[in-house]
Amino acid sequence: MCHQIQFLFLFCFLFLNSNAQNKELPKDYLSKEFHKGRREQLRKIMPAKSVSVFFTNPVRNRANDVDFHFHQDPNFYYLTGYREPNSVLIIFKNDQKIQGELINEIIFVQEKDAFAEMWNGKRLGIEGVNKELGFNYVYNGFEFIDAKIDFSNFDHILVSPFENDVRDTDNEADLYDLIATFKQQISINLTQSKKQNFDKNQAKFRKTIDTKTFQSLMASLREIKTKEELLLIKKAVEISAIGQIEIMKAMHPAMSELEIQGVHEFVYKKYGAEYEGYPSIVGAGNNGCILHYVDNIKPVVGDGSLVLMDLGAEYHGYTADVTRTIPANGKFTVEQKLIYDLVFKAQEAGIVSMKIGNNFNHPNQITRTIINNGLVELGIINSQDEDHLYYPHGSSHHIGLDVHDASNFGPFEENMVITVEPGIYITEGSNCDKKWWGIAVRIEDDIWITKNGPINLSAMAPRTSEDIEKTMLLPSALDAFILPKLDEGF
Ligand code: GLY
Ligand code: MN
Repeated sequence: MCHQIQFLFLFCFLFLNSNAQNKELPKDYLSKEFHKGRREQLRKIMPAKSVSVFFTNPVRNRANDVDFHFHQDPNFYYLTGYREPNSVLIIFKNDQKIQGELINEIIFVQEKDAFAEMWNGKRLGIEGVNKELGFNYVYNGFEFIDAKIDFSNFDHILVSPFENDVRDTDNEADLYDLIATFKQQISINLTQSKKQNFDKNQAKFRKTIDTKTFQSLMASLREIKTKEELLLIKKAVEISAIGQIEIMKAMHPAMSELEIQGVHEFVYKKYGAEYEGYPSIVGAGNNGCILHYVDNIKPVVGDGSLVLMDLGAEYHGYTADVTRTIPANGKFTVEQKLIYDLVFKAQEAGIVSMKIGNNFNHPNQITRTIINNGLVELGIINSQDEDHLYYPHGSSHHIGLDVHDASNFGPFEENMVITVEPGIYITEGSNCDKKWWGIAVRIEDDIWITKNGPINLSAMAPRTSEDIEKTMLLPSALDAFILPKLDEGF
């Protein structure tokens, strides 16, 4: 290759590369002001003479020396924006004198460590947490023990259950050690079994430890979304809806469940959603009757079957939860359409009922009544009151940092975001005419409760049987995919 051509190639490579590097990192994370505001709000509703203690999630081991990708505890993320493990946050109702300073919150974080950062990426450290997350009192995790917070000053120590899956590692300030320090400070003897009597001091602390109030206070904050949160949820939901549209265009009966899952998840990544909010559910035919089917291993979804797809993108921590059920070959059979349209009718009525002040259980009751009536009309059950398993789950849950988000399940309030997801599942061998067997339909949308009524954030993904069939006729970018020759061997 002559020098000029080599130079041209190099130039193009550098140009393309620098363009890629110039593409900016997302700027739409929650701001430090948001997190600070949430801490202030929590402080306001905490009971008198109380302290709240938050631990990060544990790092969970996958196998051997490989861990699962770290996912922050939602409460911790909500109040801090910190996305690293091995940290503890303490929020006081009133100022406390700690090491000579009057403070109302303190955070202990992962120490900076050049070697660890070379392997696993940058840590914010004390300076970063101060500058980027806006905490004034930040210390390294190993300093927690010396902070000598006197927990006997409080009538309530609000804390979440924090011991799920915590391992002791070589790191002397890991979550295990932070928890051990906390227990020591509240005088719970680690080696003492629960059945033994505690001495007076321990009994006193036992009384002040309060996980129930903790959960209900956090739920009361998290169930009402702020404007910043709504923007992130809206993005997560729209990305998930695009995933549903793209697969409607690409679907054909020879696809595998895994492949369908891959198309959704590719769309999530393409539009900047880092993860899935929960394990993706793609069930063809009878697999759709398994409510949380996540194996997704059927190699061919098959002509004539329905494919139930319950997936949600997670965008900067906030997750969507959208379900569509579509015919693999693009056309509902008569029976499939009857069941689909019944679920749709129930869902529509459920959504309309989501008005401020109505009970959380309202859409559940409404969808259940419509589905039971419909099942009687179709001869699948004999009466409204018959016990059956064709609609075995509730219709709704909040979404947010968790797919089943924190909530106290009170009446609907402005700026809640709640799913409506009725379904009918007729497993093979059910006590009804065989023609219904293997039909499973769930339709799930994410509804924003507003003063002007419910707004369906996922409406962009076709919902009626007619619109789904129309969308499935559209061409797909995947139509041009090269077919693999996996069976031919080497
Ligand atoms: N998307 C799964 C569920 O709501 O349980
Ligand atoms: Mn759901």
